[in-house]
Parts: sequence; structure tokens; C-alpha cells
Amino acid sequence: MIIEDKKILITGVAIGGIGEAIMRKLSNQNNNILITSLNMSNERFPNIKNFSVDCTSEEGINKLKKWILTEVGAIDVLINAIGGSLASKNIFKVSASFFNRVLSVNLTSAFLLSRIAPEIMPEGGAIVHIVSSSAYEPSITKMPYGVAKAGLVYLIRSMAQVLAPKIRINGVSPTYVFTKRHEEELKKEAIDTGIPIEELTSKQIAKQLLNYPLVPEDLNEMIEFAATTKLMTGKILDASLGRIFY
Ligand SMILES: NC(=O)c1ccc[n+]([C@@H]2O[C@H](COP(=O)([O-])OP(=O)(O)OC[C@H]3O[C@@H](n4cnc5c(N)ncnc54)[C@H](OP(=O)(O)O)[C@@H]3O)[C@@H](O)[C@H]2O)c1
Repeated sequence: MIIEDKKILITGVAIGGIGEAIMRKLSNQNNNILITSLNMSNERFPNIKNFSVDCTSEEGINKLKKWILTEVGAIDVLINAIGGSLASKNIFKVSASFFNRVLSVNLTSAFLLSRIAPEIMPEGGAIVHIVSSSAYEPSITKMPYGVAKAGLVYLIRSMAQVLAPKIRINGVSPTYVFTKRHEEELKKEAIDTGIPIEELTSKQIAKQLLNYPLVPEDLNEMIEFAATTKLMTGKILDASLGRIFY
């Protein structure tokens, strides 16, 4: 697949995030890019066709489907960057509603987006979901997120069975990424705790064998590969910099 010729939908495009980085790369070569987020304002990316939609509900997904059909008729590639841990909480402080919210943002949205693929993609289409190393690593403060991302791995493997041979579905699984949102959270943590930002950064990358802070642009190559290779479906590409999982 030559990505320059394709109609591409990127969901979850926030300023300074993983979705924005791949959008900037692809929109340099391609005019057929569509983007969404939960609260997309027209000022955010004024030159790109954009839409605000909640992808955790069937109602939202139906609106999205209509928008895609009206704007471009069909898409060839879906890059889904919706997600997030929403907050760090001790497992015993996690309410049922918070647990369900994290699952719906990270997993239900991916399920609903994958399920409409045959209606919005021709033969040869490809889906790339952004997973997370949290899918493989137990955490006492981000447990719902890890559960959701582990579920996403299972979803990708299962959906591949029913979407093949027409549509491929794969995942890219990064370790901690220094997005704009994370940079702001680290700055706040440094102020709140008095721990220098350098120390907080080192703590984040301590489990990585390749010892550098991953930024959103680093993922572009792997996302593009997952979207274009004809050789793979139902697989997760690891972008964890050799992170060691306990
Ligand atoms: N950053 C990391 O360290 C890291 C590591 C591994 C995996 N990931 C995964 O990579 C993906 C992108 O992460 P990021 O850090 O770039 O995230 P981000 O900057 O927080 O962006 C998340 C996007 O998801 C959208 N969104 C949230 N809830 C939604 C909903 N109900 N319906 C539709 N859209 C919704 C947000 O919309 P608004 O902008 O309108 O709020 C935003 O555009 C996520 O799946 C995340 O779990 C991130």
C-alpha cells in the first residue's frame, strides 16, 4: 500500500500527542486526511477535515460513519489513537464507574471503530490501534488502563480473524511517551513534590534498555509500517525500547 494515495482517518488527535505527530507526517504527503477527537475545536487543526465525536457510544460511531461517507465516501486506513489512563489511583480506590470509563475510552471505542471497518473500508484496508506497554506490565496505580489495553491486544487478535482477508488490523505498543500532556503532568508533579523534573524523567525511562525519552514522532515510522505492510494482521508491534516487564 502506498500511503500517499490513501484516504486516512486518524482518531484521537490532540495537540502534542501521538495522533498529531502521525497526522503532521502524513498530511505533508497526502490531502486525504480526516481527524477526530472528543472535543475538536475548529481552531485546533483548521486546515484538516475534522470532527468532534465520542467514539465510546454506538450513537457517536454512527455519526462518525455518516461523516466519513459524506466527506470521502470511504477510508483506506484507520489509525486509532484514542485513549489514556485518565488518572492514577490505588486499586482499592477505583470505583466501578471510573473502571468502566477507562475501559470504554480505551477498549469499547476500539471495538466499535473496528466493527464498522467493513462498512467504511474497501478491500485492502488497514487498521492500526495504539496499544501500550501497560497491557503487559502489572500496575497498582493504573490497573484499569492495563486491563483495557490487554483487552485491546485480544480484540486485535480476534478481529483479525473476521476482517481477513479483506482488512488488516494491527497494533503499535509504545512505552511511556513524552507527549505534551505528559510533559505538563511531569512539570506539575515536580512542583507538587519538589522532585526535579530530570529525576522524574529518569524514573519514567528506568525500565527501558534503550535509555532515552520516547517522543510522539518516534512512533511515526512504526505506525506507517503497520498501516502499509501486506504481510501482517492480528499482531502487535513493540515500541517499548526494550522495556523490562515484571
Ligand atoms: N502517551 C503515552 O505515554 C502513551 C503510551 C502508550 C500508549 N499510549 C496510547 O496512545 C494513544 C494516544 O495517546 P496520547 O498520549 O497521544 O493521548 P492524548 O494526547 O491524551 O490524546 C488522546 C485523544 O483521545 C481522544 N479521546 C478521549 N476520549 C475520547 C472519546 N470518548 N471519544 C473520542 N475521542 C476521545 C482525546 O480527545 P480530546 O483531545 O478532544 O480530549 C484525544 O484526542 C492512546 O491510546 C494512549 O493510551 C500513550
